[in-house]
Amino acid sequence: MPTSAETAATTTHDADWWRQAAVYQIYPRSFADASGDGIGDIKGITSKVPYLKALGIDAVWLSPFYPSALADGGYDVDDYRNVDPRLGTLEDFDEMVGALHEAGIKVIADIVPNHTSDRHEWFTEALASPKGSAARNRYIFRDGLGANGELPPNDWTSIFGGGAWERVTEPDGTPGQWYFHLFAKEQPDLNWDNPEVHEDFLATLRFWSDRGVDGFRVDVAHGLKKDMDAELPSLETIHRADLFKDGEHPLWDRDEVHTIYAEWRKVFNEYNPPRTAVAEAWVHADRRARYASPEGLGQAFNFDLLQADFDADVFRAIITKNLAEAAATGASSTWVFSNHDVVRHATRYGLPKGTGRRGGGPDGTDWLLEGGDPAKVDAARGLRRAKAATLLMLALPGSAYLYQGEELGLQEVGQIPDEDRQDPTFFRNKGVEVGRDGCRVPLPWEATPAAGSSFGFGANGAHLPQPEWFAGYAASVQADDEGSTLAFYRRALALRHELQGAEALGWQDSADDDVLHFVRPGGWHVVANFGTTPVELPAGEVLLASSDVEGGKLPGEATAWVRAAR
Ligand code: GLC
Repeated sequence: MPTSAETAATTTHDADWWRQAAVYQIYPRSFADASGDGIGDIKGITSKVPYLKALGIDAVWLSPFYPSALADGGYDVDDYRNVDPRLGTLEDFDEMVGALHEAGIKVIADIVPNHTSDRHEWFTEALASPKGSAARNRYIFRDGLGANGELPPNDWTSIFGGGAWERVTEPDGTPGQWYFHLFAKEQPDLNWDNPEVHEDFLATLRFWSDRGVDGFRVDVAHGLKKDMDAELPSLETIHRADLFKDGEHPLWDRDEVHTIYAEWRKVFNEYNPPRTAVAEAWVHADRRARYASPEGLGQAFNFDLLQADFDADVFRAIITKNLAEAAATGASSTWVFSNHDVVRHATRYGLPKGTGRRGGGPDGTDWLLEGGDPAKVDAARGLRRAKAATLLMLALPGSAYLYQGEELGLQEVGQIPDEDRQDPTFFRNKGVEVGRDGCRVPLPWEATPAAGSSFGFGANGAHLPQPEWFAGYAASVQADDEGSTLAFYRRALALRHELQGAEALGWQDSADDDVLHFVRPGGWHVVANFGTTPVELPAGEVLLASSDVEGGKLPGEATAWVRAAR
């Protein structure tokens, strides 16, 4: 057996490490709090490296850790080349990267190029500078309409609700121009037609790459290039579906955006191994491959499974399409069920169909909007299905993204008092969306029952309140329990390493419509039963199952990995 240092050394120069990596997303402010101020920090992450190593992941993706007023959970960045002082220092960051690398774990940083925060020095300068100045030209400023410019330039709305334009006060104290923000008003959009913006981001990519960051997750990758020069169309016009299909939308997924990523790729390839990137691009499925091209970012998130119902046909169609798409570009596919923007999948799968997603179900119902009562979630069923889906995902060719806490089987926190909520979606959109705080509640590390305890997250409470029932999910309780969700994830990730070979998958016929069966090279069979009737497994050794296999039969809502009998 190679030692961990040897493993790290041999994998360091493997340019393909990302292709089938299991990537664990850390939301730093909610992971582990070493300083005891209620907010997770970099030293907290370093303290959990042994846990991450034992879990068996290949890489961590860190959501933003940059200085920020937290108007959008850190996706409002004040300074791209620094660490939030509440989270630590650059030295702490270096120490964390060193510890992760020593454990054989790669580091992916989140990069937020669509917008800065309104506290970024560029924006401060823009506000202090006159209309038409170079400082304003780093952002998207326009004159307002109406006799005195008192109306916004058009009726576009922000993703988080409300208008997409904010009026500024000019340096002389008079009401002035408007700036554009796709997200919160604290997140002014950058002008990617300005070469200075390009140069600055190249410097940021080099800054973190030089510090040992192995890859980047690119926030809102499909939004950077905008057509704002022409007459601005109305909101109604930009909702036309055909605009999203052919790159004609003024805001989203324009063809020119790829010129940016071609520049980035040159920087990535200056390093050995080349730095990697994955695009967060909510685009028409036919256009996603452009982001994943080897001349661009190399990989793009596919959120199809995350948005799908627990259904064999739906899963099969999604898997087939995405593997074909990845093969066409030479990328590998990505798979994900949970992240910091959506209701945790152990909860989604325990809710009546269509009620657990942001925005609600087709009949208008939404569990979160209706109070997020845990009693309305069939948590046992949700977790059973989540484990089945995850075991299926971990057997697919491509990289698998896991979100902190899912390895504990953690449920979404639906009930958070209004005064504790932090997500701008809640404030800008109250009544239409509750927001994403429920999946961002700090992790329970220990089952400490004391009132006011943060379940081992830190010494002094947690920045989002943890419910009492978190005790039952604590990592310390699960660590030594062979039957726990944590033990299941560890086993699955270890086996995945052992079994993984070429990126191929062969579908096998199945007599039951609710059953998916495929085989990976080396005789690794994967059977997923989406129905409720037990099914026969192929002959061989059951390596792992998400629910107990009895008499050779896989129960309903379960997945098994089987090594075929020779
Ligand atoms: C991405 C992030 C989300 C953030 C938004 C604006 O969608 O995942 O958390 O609010 O971009 O930066």
